[in-house]
Amino acid sequence: MARLGICKYLLSLAVVLFVSVHIARAQCSEETIKQMEAIFIQNFTQNEAMAPMCLHSAFHDCWNGCNGALFLPEEIDRPENAGLPPLKPLLMPFTSQFPCISIADLINSCAVTALKFLGGPSVPVYYGRLDRGVPDPPGLIPEPTMSLSALIGAFNAIGFTKENVVTLSGAHSVGVCHGIPMCPGHNNTFGNHYYKELIEGDFEGKLHTDIELLEDNTMRSLVQQYANDQQQFFNDFSEVFGKYISRIHCNQTSTGPCPLDDIGVPTSAAPSPQSAVPSFSEPSFGPPSGPSFPTFDGEPSAPSSFSPFGSSSGPEFFPI
Ligand SMILES: *[C@@H]1O[C@H](CO)[C@@H](O)[C@H](O)[C@H]1NC(C)=O
Ligand SMILES: *[C@@H]1O[C@H](CO)[C@@H](O)[C@H](O)[C@H]1NC(C)=O
Ligand SMILES: *[C@@H]1O[C@H](CO)[C@@H](O)[C@H](O)[C@H]1NC(C)=O
Repeated sequence: MARLGICKYLLSLAVVLFVSVHIARAQCSEETIKQMEAIFIQNFTQNEAMAPMCLHSAFHDCWNGCNGALFLPEEIDRPENAGLPPLKPLLMPFTSQFPCISIADLINSCAVTALKFLGGPSVPVYYGRLDRGVPDPPGLIPEPTMSLSALIGAFNAIGFTKENVVTLSGAHSVGVCHGIPMCPGHNNTFGNHYYKELIEGDFEGKLHTDIELLEDNTMRSLVQQYANDQQQFFNDFSEVFGKYISRIHCNQTSTGPCPLDDIGVPTSAAPSPQSAVPSFSEPSFGPPSGPSFPTFDGEPSAPSSFSPFGSSSGPEFFPI
């Protein structure tokens, strides 16, 4: 009998744990997310630099597992993030208007909305990213000057293939350069023109890692396929980028790169029980407990030790 009691207790505990994990992942209702996306789109329309910035910022925030640390002053002011600081004051007001969302989810919600807004494919959205609250260790994000083989090695370490590097490089089809030489993006339409330009030898604004995609037979053949077939590029980008931004349950205290084997669950397919509640009055399950962010007053306060390359005269985005 006692054993049965324990079993029942464990079972109900498991149910409680399952339910609370589920709720913790579905922090914002679908209705809230829709409202947020509508505001993103209004903002994109008013500020054409914002959508590409959101897309690129997801790459940066998620390299070490999507964790919102990109917006910490110590991290956003690093040279590899040059070009992204203007995004922070545009996005931070959302956190007070939508307290159910973590910064990591905010960045990625903006990114997938931006991708669609720019004419790109839909990406399955996962919610439940936790904010790390402390900066990622410096030096994890690949440097823009890195060779293609080193870049591929860095992607392999987080579970992505060299073909995936070709696919993700397509994000360079969009971007706004502010007088920064070698800025990879120059078009406000997400599409396969990036691959066409590579094939045609139009290397203006390309990074050397872009150009080197042509030097490997497997990669060049994929570049060619994408140049011929935008739909294939869109299908692959949706899948690979979807994986990339879904590495959300990484060990938040680890100092190593976040591996791929830790994918989130789609909450859009499993709306939270609160989805019928109007968003502004919905009970908040977040922000996640854990260290809170120090300041968001927008004043850069990065220690100079984070600027080993001096002022940011390099490319605006790291080379993916
Ligand atoms: C974004 O759009 C909302 C709704 O129109 C507006 O209130 C807000 O000021 C906009 N933010 C920026 C930075 O333009
Ligand atoms: C921008 O992208 C669109 C869609 O892919 C393409 O048709 C156009 O040629 C591109 N413009 C430039 C300047 O690359
Ligand atoms: C997380 O990473 C830290 C540091 O690498 C390690 O000590 C800890 O055991 C890890 N925790 C889990 C749950 O893997």
